[in-house]
Amino acid sequence: MMDGLRLNLCLILQISAFCYNDAAVRFANYYASHMVLQKAPAQAHIWGTGGAVGQSVTVVIDGKTVGTPMANGAGVWEILLPATPAGGPHNISVTSNGTTVTLSDVLFGDVWICSGQSNMGYQISQIRNYSSVVTSAMQRPNLRISELRQNALNATVKEPLIGTPWQKPGHDNTTHSFSAVCLMFAIELSQHVTQPLGMVETDWGGTPVEAWSSPTALAACPQHKKKRAIDPHLPSVLYNGMIAPILPMTIFGAIWYQGESNAGKPQLYACQIEAMISDWRAKFHQASKNQTSNTFPFGFVQLAPNRNVTGAHTGFPDLRWAQTAEYGYVPNPTLKNVFMAVAMDLPDYASPYGTIHPRTKEDVAVRLALAARGVAYGQQNIDFKGPFPTHFSQTGQKLTVEYDNGNTDISVRTTAGFEVCCGLSESHVCPGNGWTAAPISGHSATSVTLDTSGCQGHSHVVAGVRYAWEESPCDFKKCAVYGLGTNLPAPPFVKQAPFS
Ligand SMILES: *[C@@H]1O[C@H](CO)[C@@H](O)[C@H](O)[C@H]1NC(C)=O
Ligand SMILES: *[C@@H]1O[C@H](CO)[C@@H](O)[C@H](O)[C@H]1NC(C)=O
Ligand SMILES: *[C@@H]1O[C@H](CO)[C@@H](O)[C@H](O)[C@H]1NC(C)=O
Ligand SMILES: *[C@@H]1O[C@H](CO)[C@@H](O)[C@H](O)[C@H]1NC(C)=O
Ligand SMILES: *[C@@H]1O[C@H](CO)[C@@H](O)[C@H](O)[C@H]1NC(C)=O
Ligand SMILES: *[C@@H]1O[C@H](CO)[C@@H](O)[C@H](O)[C@H]1NC(C)=O
Ligand SMILES: *[C@@H]1O[C@H](CO)[C@@H](O)[C@H](O)[C@H]1NC(C)=O
Repeated sequence: MMDGLRLNLCLILQISAFCYNDAAVRFANYYASHMVLQKAPAQAHIWGTGGAVGQSVTVVIDGKTVGTPMANGAGVWEILLPATPAGGPHNISVTSNGTTVTLSDVLFGDVWICSGQSNMGYQISQIRNYSSVVTSAMQRPNLRISELRQNALNATVKEPLIGTPWQKPGHDNTTHSFSAVCLMFAIELSQHVTQPLGMVETDWGGTPVEAWSSPTALAACPQHKKKRAIDPHLPSVLYNGMIAPILPMTIFGAIWYQGESNAGKPQLYACQIEAMISDWRAKFHQASKNQTSNTFPFGFVQLAPNRNVTGAHTGFPDLRWAQTAEYGYVPNPTLKNVFMAVAMDLPDYASPYGTIHPRTKEDVAVRLALAARGVAYGQQNIDFKGPFPTHFSQTGQKLTVEYDNGNTDISVRTTAGFEVCCGLSESHVCPGNGWTAAPISGHSATSVTLDTSGCQGHSHVVAGVRYAWEESPCDFKKCAVYGLGTNLPAPPFVKQAPFS
């Protein structure tokens, strides 16, 4: 009777590829020895298949039974483990119908997802001093990594393809091919938090945000219609294959390095990225039985420079602006609990992997981890944002830009980088191109003064000002404005008149 019921359910559910007939109990494939499970106050959600029909699955942590879930009609059992403080190692086993499977060396800590395109996929072995970075990771036994295999699918699946099962970093090929940004972010963070860190890499080079967005997220924004082809660029295919299956795992947060593939349609991206973040948060929350926060921290890398050119004012600059939901900084009222690393001052035109792949991932990871400490971990007195303009004042052919309400001392490294848009009146709508250089003519501890004499003659009113609005705005760490104490670059901004 029960067997018949399960068979029937399986026949019905098979169309959604969600059915397990194998009797032997097991964990879903991303629960493995050496893994990190999310620590208290959250409860780690785990699931698996093969519980014997009509019998419970006994779940044991370090010899203590913590639950006896029943497998459902599709052969799936699941349980929320007791909220467990950071640390370990622990053994977690499940037993059903005489079969026991054990995960050993399991730590409780914070689980981070690392996703995006090729700059997240960029491998540790492609870093100049990668050997010392790997050694540094190996000195942190609380740091664990795993990688999903690339998988583009038309429909969601219950389990991902595993590229690298959970492991400690080591001098091995799988660590060497692990994400440089993901690993170095963890190394940097581990110097400032005590809990174990579990890093899950799930990325695919050259892919647009649409591929990582569920149909729900896509429906929230206007879309750029693409020609249909079976490839990883299709809407939702990577969400289906590389995000949806891990939604049930309780996680702490996500970092994201993506956007180059959307630079051709930057005006759509602000909506798209906000929709994707909201949707991931809602779906991780729901699939983990509310254990993953529905406002979990989300960090991203604002696009780095690309080509060694000047005068490329569209594409990357617009995309960087869109990445912040057009505020210029994060977190902000639209992107709450979001943090970023500014990278537009880290060109590497000589990169053997192409200018689109700068090798300077350590700077990116350090900036991102600093912001994570301030935003994701709420550590006090972390100055994690570069200076941002708060006030503009005009006298004659001078425009003064004050940063952070006068609260941050700035360092000025070059006079170039600001531009103004000139119009007949302040209501002139500034175009993407055709701006005029407005060099820094002087500065105080907390403001810069721009020479706007480029706006002369018939159209002499300054109708807009922008900063670092170039694909590749400056030489390495030589943009115009930085925090004096932090060495963090002021992010790009654009501002239309009025300036009061
Ligand atoms: C339980 O295990 C026995 C022996 O291994 C097997 O014959 C039987 O089919 C299993 N029962 C279920 C319900 O999976
Ligand atoms: C986990 O299992 C291993 C191997 O059986 C054992 O040596 C170790 O003591 C166990 N750890 C805990 C915390 O029970
Ligand atoms: C790698 O090299 C960079 C730049 O030279 C340096 O800042 C960093 O400390 C090095 N990292 C390690 C782990 O050796
Ligand atoms: C995925 O969808 C595309 C477009 O509808 C279709 O051409 C392709 O055959 C589908 N692939 C699979 C594996 O179903
Ligand atoms: C690592 O990769 C190299 C080159 O691809 C190969 O020769 C070597 O056998 C691999 N080592 C391991 C441990 O897989
Ligand atoms: C889970 O969260 C949702 C909304 O976030 C809420 O409506 C629901 O009651 C929660 N369920 C439990 C079991 O806490
Ligand atoms: C970048 O372009 C400048 C100006 O054309 C040139 O002098 C410089 O050598 C280039 N740098 C690289 C690394 O190609």
